[in-house]
Amino acid sequence: MKLVENRFTVGLGSGRTVSQAIIELGRRVREEGLQVQCVPSSYQAMLEALEAGLKLVDLYSSPQVDLTIDGADEVDRRLNLTKGGGAALTREKILASVSKRYVIIVDEEKLVERLGSRSPIPVEVIPFAAPAVKRRLEGYGRVEYRTGSGKLGPVVTDNGNFLLDLYLDGLDSPEGFEAEVKRIPGVVEVGVFTGLADEVYVGLKDGNVKKLTRHG
Ligand code: A5P
Repeated sequence: MKLVENRFTVGLGSGRTVSQAIIELGRRVREEGLQVQCVPSSYQAMLEALEAGLKLVDLYSSPQVDLTIDGADEVDRRLNLTKGGGAALTREKILASVSKRYVIIVDEEKLVERLGSRSPIPVEVIPFAAPAVKRRLEGYGRVEYRTGSGKLGPVVTDNGNFLLDLYLDGLDSPEGFEAEVKRIPGVVEVGVFTGLADEVYVGLKDGNVKKLTRHG
């Protein structure tokens, strides 16, 4: 959160790691008089930002974001990411794409050799197309509808869509996979983020933080 400067528009990712960042940003606003406005990527982030006393805006009033802070489910050596464990992948990718700087915070267990080896790859789909997209994705591996606690049946995303989770042994070409899946009609977004993260801050078990950058 030290990366946030006065008058920044800050994109807020989603998830448990980002929750901690939101609390810290709220503290800086209260105690240091920092002036920021935030675009949340989910109802979770929106509610937590309000609780932390942060000012909220949207992409209509603030289409360019200075810095987005986000979590991830997996990070590879080239800082490609798997995201969407919290079902917020579509808005997160949109925020990443309009941000001058896209920064990821994870713990070291999220570092992987190949994306898709530790977590399933989420794909957000329009409900009408879900069975058709599921069949296409089964060409890559096992596919399951995301179901959740507190609701029977499929999880419905903040955008009113379903999520398919694709289980595979790891991707050889994240870029190729992302492009291929995006071309399937009915797919809204795929939880593989290539070429977007500028920096990744990795929390280590010993309490230190390691910074990874895309260009080494
Ligand atoms: C939300 O959909 C995700 O992309 C999260 O950023 C990701 O799942 C990491 O979440 P945690 O910080 O809760 O592990």
